[in-house]
Order: sequence, then C-alpha cells, then structure tokens
Amino acid sequence: MLMNMKDLLAVANEHKFAVPAFNISDYSMMNGIFEASEEKQAPVIIAIHPDELKHTGTEIVKAIIEKAHKATVPVCIHLDHGATFEQVMLAIQSGFTSVMIDGSSLSFEDNIAVCKKVAEAAHAVNVSVEGELGTIGSTDAQAEAGANTIIYTDPDAAVKFVEATGVDTLAIAIGTSHGIYPKGMKPELKLDLLKVIKSKVSIPLVLHGASGLSDEDVMDCVKRGICKVNFATELRAAYSKAVKELLAEKPDTIDPKAYGKTAIAAVKELVMARMKVCGCDGKAE
Ligand code: 13P
Ligand code: ZN
Repeated sequence: MLMNMKDLLAVANEHKFAVPAFNISDYSMMNGIFEASEEKQAPVIIAIHPDELKHTGTEIVKAIIEKAHKATVPVCIHLDHGATFEQVMLAIQSGFTSVMIDGSSLSFEDNIAVCKKVAEAAHAVNVSVEGELGTIGSTDAQAEAGANTIIYTDPDAAVKFVEATGVDTLAIAIGTSHGIYPKGMKPELKLDLLKVIKSKVSIPLVLHGASGLSDEDVMDCVKRGICKVNFATELRAAYSKAVKELLAEKPDTIDPKAYGKTAIAAVKELVMARMKVCGCDGKAE
C-alpha cells in the first residue's frame, strides 16, 4: 500500500514506535528492503537523496510505486534532503509521496520561508513535507549531507517553526552525524532535549544520521518520541562488504545477478535488524 508520510507516521506517533527510512541507490537495495518489509510485516520508508536520484533516474520511482501497490505493507517514497524548491517539484512530479526540504543551513527566517512554500505546493497534491531545524553533523566526506558543527535544536524555535511552516514532520538535531562514526567517536545524544521537544511539538519527530548508533541509543530515542529513523550509510557499507567478500572468495564471478543476490541478502538482513530496533515489525496493519 502506497502512503504519504503524514498518514504513515500518525500511526507510529500514536502507538509509540518508529518507522525506519532506508536510502537506496539501486534496484538491489530496493528489493532487499521490500523483501524485509514483507517478511517482517513492517511499514517502511524508501528514501532517495537527490544525488541518488540522479544516479538511478526518476524512472525507479515508478518501479517503487508499482511494488508498493502490490505490497501487503504500507510504503512511503521520500525525497531525502531536498535542497531546492526545484528538486522538490521534480520529486513530486516523479511520484514521491513525501519530500524533505532541508533549509537547516539557512537563517531561521529563510528556512521558514522555503519550507512554507514547499508545504503549500506539496499539500495541494497530498504529498507530505519534512523540514529540519538545527544541524546534523557529518563524520566523513562520503556522508551525503551534514554540517561541521552540530547545532542542537531549540525547543521553542521548533514550536515556532512548525507553526509558521505547516510541515508534517520535523527533523531535529540531538547529536547524531551523517556517515560512519570513526573508531572511538561516540555521538553525544541529548535525550533530555528530545524529551523537551517532544513535549512541545506534536508532529512526528525525525532522527537523521542513525547509522552506527547502538540498538540501545535508537531504542532510547524511539522511547522518547522519535517516529522516523534514517539509515543510509549502514546499508551501503553492508552491501559493499558482502559484495567484496563474494569477489574475494570467488574472484572469477562475472555475473551481476550473483552480486545482486548477495547485495539483496545483506541489505535485507540489516533492514530486518533495524526494523526490530525501531519497533515496527508486525505493525503493518
Ligand atoms: P547515515 O549517514 O547515518 O546513514 O544518515 C542517514 C540520513 O540521515 C539520511 O538522511
Ligand atoms: Zn539525513
């Protein structure tokens, strides 16, 4: 079943679980996620970053829509870190049911202005909108977005931001970073801050940069009101590791179907584990 983010996360918000969003950049990742969702009977968000969309082509969205219609679980197709109004419009035209407009590096006023503009346009065609206030860190050059310094989300500013923009979900900064945390670096999560934001903001809250977080950290965040948890780097790492191992073991392999099968299995395993931690397995109904 194809859904927008607002309807999908309303259920998670009410029943206190989170739905993970997994970034994809090819069909193997998409297939691994669908297989995991069906097996776990878990709702899921398939996220595509503009750089990933450039790589796959917008045609992949049609494939996801078709698979979502056939699926027995709720599926949302989400544009991750849309940077401009134009990128968001292309996503809506391509069939995304949810879009993020990331104005987190802009001034508070400019962030409000662009999110409001996107929300007005997207809502007219039943597409949900995610905004971001505060900044997510970045741990490596391969990370898709992120700032050098984390600016933690201010709870009162978050209230004003949600009211002024009309966004459906809010990405908040509580100490995570995009990318893989280098050995020895532990994210400093401000769980008390999350609790305060949750007590003031009623729309679903989103956690970016969840790759590399311990199960306990993710569960602590979900317990305190996070409804959507973003995983991107972890999937790429699991995918690449499995394919590299296959090639090391069988260097004569030349069939992309063999790589694909290995990649799908690796992605599926990771996705199922993260669904469990988010508490959304068995929640499709
Ligand atoms: P990671 O790099 O931690 O996977 O971040 C995912 C994310 O926030 C996508 O928007
Ligand atoms: Zn992100």
